[in-house]
Amino acid sequence: MTYGATFVCLLSGKDAMRVLTIDLRGREYQKFSIDHRIYFGPVDDEEAQRLDAQHRIFQALFDDRLIFPPVRQLRRVLDCGHGAASWAVEVADQNPRCEFIKVIGVDIAPHMSPDDMPENLWLQVGGKHSIRKMCRRQAGSRIVDDLNRAFTFPSNHFDLVHSRLLATGIHHTRWPSYVRDIVRCESPKVLTPGGWVQMVEIYFNVQSDNGSITDSHALRRWSAQYMRALEDRKDLRIGSRLRGLFVEAGLEEVDMKMIPLPLSEWSSDANMRSIGQSNSRNVNELLRSLALYPMTQRLHMSKQNFDSLVEEAQQEANDISLKAYFPIDSQREGIIDMFALDENRHRNRV
Ligand SMILES: C[S@@+](CC[C@H](N)C(=O)[O-])C[C@H]1O[C@@H](n2cnc3c(N)ncnc32)[C@H](O)[C@@H]1O
Repeated sequence: MTYGATFVCLLSGKDAMRVLTIDLRGREYQKFSIDHRIYFGPVDDEEAQRLDAQHRIFQALFDDRLIFPPVRQLRRVLDCGHGAASWAVEVADQNPRCEFIKVIGVDIAPHMSPDDMPENLWLQVGGKHSIRKMCRRQAGSRIVDDLNRAFTFPSNHFDLVHSRLLATGIHHTRWPSYVRDIVRCESPKVLTPGGWVQMVEIYFNVQSDNGSITDSHALRRWSAQYMRALEDRKDLRIGSRLRGLFVEAGLEEVDMKMIPLPLSEWSSDANMRSIGQSNSRNVNELLRSLALYPMTQRLHMSKQNFDSLVEEAQQEANDISLKAYFPIDSQREGIIDMFALDENRHRNRV
């Protein structure tokens, strides 16, 4: 596969549309995503910094592993919905043999992409970064930045496809074909033979390690309202369905782990306590930033009701006696740390 052909790109009408933002109470949203009901999270610097901090928390939670599966040969990697590209940058940095290794990130919004990137990272986005970052494209392939649309990558292409926190961006009816597009059991395949998929999703229904959180707590009311605000478009319980979707897509081996992400430093385990401490600030920000548009614009919650729900939920998140975490419950929802093995592994393994 050839990369590196250099094209001079101009902002097309489509790209220009992707750049426009709207402002809501000092936060910036991508107008295109809002108008097309694709993604309702902010895309400003504040959110990029939060996503970067959250990435570091995930790294601690996943024992510093960026890549869970034992990928035999890492030449090309796809990161779906890269956001601030924290994961993609680290993978590219840690695999500097850039003649062979190419990390590609795809995102509907160009706004949070970093300015400085490793040579072997290419962010496939529309909008303001087009000229700088979309100048290299594979001849003949159409750029797809909305993951709700069918992939146009060539077959047998990626050794690893990574998809993290896309539940709020993928349409609820798209998930089976999104997984199939990644796996493509029938020819052509996006994954190379022996390739892997790695997905991580948070289930936003807050749980308590000592059962002390009830439906009347603000944290639960926040979760319920957040999920209700998006339920006509998104499946925020998708984590629990991923195993079934991968098996349906024909993967031979699927491994899934559920890990509680503490909202504050309540754990008796020193490592989890430290993760909870780092996560506390992230959660305080997340409770407001993720929910602002969905609750005030989609559920029409008043400013006063929104502010008081968020403030109460923040206090509860910081209350170590509640032992709150995202999420895990008995139905196995939670942070889904899933990696799936492509059906051809055995034929291609050395
Ligand atoms: C919650 S952020 C997660 C970012 C990153 N994966 C991470 O774990 O830090 C979701 C990202 O996915 C992007 N996104 C949401 N829906 C999308 C879609 N349908 N197509 C492409 N990108 C999408 C958003 O613009 C945002 O950057």
